[in-house]
Amino acid sequence: MKKTGMKSETNRTSFDWNTPVYNALKSYSASGTIPFHMPGHKLGSGIPGIFLSEIEKLDLTEIPGTDDLHRPEGVLKEAQELAASAFGAKTSRFVVNGSTGGLHAAIAAACRPGQRLITCRDCHGSVVNGMLMAGVSPYYILPGYSDEFRISTGITPDDVEKALADAPDAPAVLITRPSYYGLCCDIRKIAHIVHNHGRVLIVDEAHGPHFTFNKRLPASALEAGADICVQSAHKTLPAFTQGAYLHIGSDRVDPERVDYFLNIYQTTSPSFIIMAFLDMAREIMQKQGKELLDRLLGSIQANRGRLDGSALRLLDGTAVPGFDHDPTRITVNVSRLGMTGYEAEKLLRNRYSIQAEMSDLSNVVFISTAADSPGSIGRLFDALIDLQRRPCAGAGEACCAKGRDRTQGLPDLGQTYTALLKRQIESARNGRSGCRDIMSADAERVKLEDAAGRISKCVISPYPPGTALICPGEVITREAVEFITDVAGAGGKVHGIDKDGTVLVLCRK
Ligand SMILES: Cc1ncc(COP(=O)(O)O)c(C=O)c1O
Repeated sequence: MKKTGMKSETNRTSFDWNTPVYNALKSYSASGTIPFHMPGHKLGSGIPGIFLSEIEKLDLTEIPGTDDLHRPEGVLKEAQELAASAFGAKTSRFVVNGSTGGLHAAIAAACRPGQRLITCRDCHGSVVNGMLMAGVSPYYILPGYSDEFRISTGITPDDVEKALADAPDAPAVLITRPSYYGLCCDIRKIAHIVHNHGRVLIVDEAHGPHFTFNKRLPASALEAGADICVQSAHKTLPAFTQGAYLHIGSDRVDPERVDYFLNIYQTTSPSFIIMAFLDMAREIMQKQGKELLDRLLGSIQANRGRLDGSALRLLDGTAVPGFDHDPTRITVNVSRLGMTGYEAEKLLRNRYSIQAEMSDLSNVVFISTAADSPGSIGRLFDALIDLQRRPCAGAGEACCAKGRDRTQGLPDLGQTYTALLKRQIESARNGRSGCRDIMSADAERVKLEDAAGRISKCVISPYPPGTALICPGEVITREAVEFITDVAGAGGKVHGIDKDGTVLVLCRK
């Protein structure tokens, strides 16, 4: 690989640094690409310059005056109290390994080994792994599905009611809200049902920490009655990657148990830069969040109408009955352009210098935050309009047939995916598979095509949408092998399959 010459700031001489990660980051940030992805500070534009000057001098450790995350008594205690007050929590904790770490601690604190956790089958992989580590088994609910967008939609209050009756031993219910696509289940009703049954509601609000700061957005989990809520500040607030909050909203949860597990799951050397930005993101949003989000929502509103009557369909609060939608999450269905979401994402990057957060077979998802300007939102919609006007500009670009629904002939997520998940859920409930003891079981690698009938040791998930198709302890079915092959063939990524096409399965006894 050719080395990139970087100019030394100190002696102004130019020489090669063999620093591929640094070079890649520098090159992306200098490329002029408009980022519609996390982190939510958008290359720093959402952070006042004063906070960014001489940032290297803030990379400190536990010394007198900086406090200790694992026993906060000084500035970290004060900053966590400020966060609790800003987000409406009884008490809040800073987490330095993302919502992943917060969810792991929340699950272990709310459930004991051998118990079950009620959750949706489209939960994030960190929830599946959290159950594994805590010795907790899943009681999965099958998520709904939107045929129009070809995405899973989440769970309804009725689903939760049935699950609670069916799993009386489960001490807690964990829901994901909002989804990656911005869909929001009816959390108020769900909270009411869960509490009526005397259980604890954990909300994976990784994508929704901004909800608190503007009344035009869906209600936040804490406002709606969550007992524990975990938020990735880095996804939609002006915070650095890995920064997350864990909030406790009620007396149903013992903060000491949560702290016990947070201490186990987190590093003993937490980054003070990440923690300082959790504090600063809270302050920025408290001071300017409402105004900045009003500006963002105004820009999106002003531009959405430009797509009316076009071949592009925007996900909104009318798309799925019973579900609200976060208007800052711009999810665009591109099927009628005659291309996949993967192809559209590539075209947007190469032709318009717009980088989306993710794409799937049918959609492209853009994260917009308080850090976006009316100009960046305008550029995104200009690009979408031009894309639908000339989806194929010639050789080398996505091959397409304008007007033809590209989802025809692609793997049918609606039928196959839902049917597969349903089967896995049934077999888990019948006790034929589950999460327990999988971590320590002996395993071997086999080619995906030879894996039908074997038990997976890992999460296997087409990413996006990131929903586990196979969870640890579940049987890899012949249909799952075909489905994964189809998704990979259409350009999708599949987590859990190695580069050599192998998967990790339990050894036969
Ligand atoms: C729904 C959901 N929950 C949890 C996580 C984990 O969050 P983090 O990356 O902050 O650890 C993600 C990450 O994308 C997610 O999409």
